Amino acid sequence: MPLAVVTSAHDFRRACQEARVDGELALVPTMGYLHAGHQSLIKNAAQRAPAVAVTIFVNPSQFAPGEDLARYPRDLPGDLHKCELTGATFVFAPTNDAELYPPGFQTYVEPGPLAQPMEGEKRPGHFRGVCTVVAKLFALSRADAAFFGEKDYQQLRVIQQMALDLNFGTEVIGRPIVRESDGLALSSRNAYLTREERMRAIALWKALDAARKAFRGGEVEPARLEELARETLQQDGLRVDYAEVRSAFDLQRPQCADANSRLFLAAFLGKTRLIDNGALGE
Ligand code: PAJ
Repeated sequence: MPLAVVTSAHDFRRACQEARVDGELALVPTMGYLHAGHQSLIKNAAQRAPAVAVTIFVNPSQFAPGEDLARYPRDLPGDLHKCELTGATFVFAPTNDAELYPPGFQTYVEPGPLAQPMEGEKRPGHFRGVCTVVAKLFALSRADAAFFGEKDYQQLRVIQQMALDLNFGTEVIGRPIVRESDGLALSSRNAYLTREERMRAIALWKALDAARKAFRGGEVEPARLEELARETLQQDGLRVDYAEVRSAFDLQRPQCADANSRLFLAAFLGKTRLIDNGALGE
């Protein structure tokens, strides 16, 4: 069956309704410019449910003024091809923002403490925008399950909590980070990197690796592990936005790191901001 593409919220709701008659529906929300990380989510979704809806929408409400909304990379034909190859049933790709934010739109979803540190602190309003659009996609699709990557681990936890708090009935499932062979986490934003920056970008992976080795060697002091990560990033000329050890569930800072604690990193390479994270015990 050829891939169906819908561009209006109305048609998306109807396509989801029809799909749910025959069994479960799994949802994979994205902002497009798809790579193997997104494709792994689509594959996982296809294993879970007979129908898989992928959404492609660069959501303006999650970008702060001055961020990269206008230059965010886009390639709809390429994305549709990848969706088809990977097992998506249909794609919702709104042709204009008013499809989800019509004139008069005024109701936003305000997340709680999980959304406060790290990305929440550095990107004010970001998770409010993410929660709002994901809530709309959950309401339109009424999907049984939705797949998100651990690449944006804080986002995953914020959305899991939102789904619980607002009774969406959609199971929010996290999947592991897909990486390049040298360790760099795949990201649509990697497209911004120059050749030289791309080479230095593995510092994020090196910082994770250094913290994990220190942890295995007995270091459990969060501040020490964070300092090690910072130094590793700075050695390769990255500007550190944050390096934080946090617990996997509530994202609070632990007294002592344990195997489930995660190191969260955000750093600039030139103008490009990259994030990464991983469990210390991995
Ligand atoms: P986007 O950055 O396009 O990511 C879509 C999904 O792909 C997210 O769940 C993200 O965590 C996952 N992903 C990205 N890179 C990955 C990688 N290397 N390995 C595994 N999964 C990866 O996240 C968003 O879009 C938006 O905030 C969205 C949730 C769609 C709301 O607008």
